[in-house]
Amino acid sequence: MELTLREEEIFKEIDRTRIPGHVAMIMDGNGRWARERGLPRSAGHRQGVETVREVVRFSNHLGIKVLTLFAFSTENWRRPPQEIDFLMSLPEQYLQSELPELVRKNVRVKLMGDPERLPAKVKRAIAKGLDATAGNSGMILNFALNYGARMEIVRAVQAVLEDLQKGKIRPAISEKSFAAYLYTAGLPDPDLLIRTGGEFRISNFLLWQLAYSELWFTPVYWPDFGRVHLLQAIRDFQQRERRFGRIYPEQR
Ligand code: FPP
Repeated sequence: MELTLREEEIFKEIDRTRIPGHVAMIMDGNGRWARERGLPRSAGHRQGVETVREVVRFSNHLGIKVLTLFAFSTENWRRPPQEIDFLMSLPEQYLQSELPELVRKNVRVKLMGDPERLPAKVKRAIAKGLDATAGNSGMILNFALNYGARMEIVRAVQAVLEDLQKGKIRPAISEKSFAAYLYTAGLPDPDLLIRTGGEFRISNFLLWQLAYSELWFTPVYWPDFGRVHLLQAIRDFQQRERRFGRIYPEQR
């Protein structure tokens, strides 16, 4: 993959053996990107899909193992129907053009969120993506669609109660056994969360899983987010001290 001079510069500062395994992204700022150009919000989302293409390719190239993208939240249903329709056309649009490459590059598509309320065309597109990549063993590309962390946790509790009632489990639960009821069952927690668009919030994303993640915020709008920014985020991540609540021996 050909890198620009600027990208190459940051790339050199990165330790290739310590690439974050799981990177999650809140892709914010499409609307403002469009407004600043006098364009409709849909133009921002369309450009946002281009960023998704680029980020997926580059993440895979860097050796990221899991990439989780927040594409549509349970709260996004509050947007005007026209915008919702447009947003709902994006997974299909993306997968239609990218699926052959994802298959070839050994990427595995996954969905997290409640598929119930998603339009049939989205369910079909995602099902096709899951199916075509089910045998792949490389990077996991996890689309959060109709996802909300509180909803995820409540659903998990409901599932625990059902299993308890059916006698499938004993009335005891640990962090590990609970995590198996979440959409991210079997996946490692995110090492790094990136949020574009200048807000400093988690917005009901992965509340359980982000407990010890490093958070990286940038004012850059999602349509302008590029390889340089991902490299910067990884470089900064590598400079942080992840203690997971411990102290270092020299501090004892
Ligand atoms: C937030 O920006 C973005 C979204 C609600 C949608 C994000 C979706 C994409 C980037 C494309 C998804 C692509 C695929 C392949 C599913 P905003 O509209 O809230 O921006 P604003 O805060 O500037 O108004």
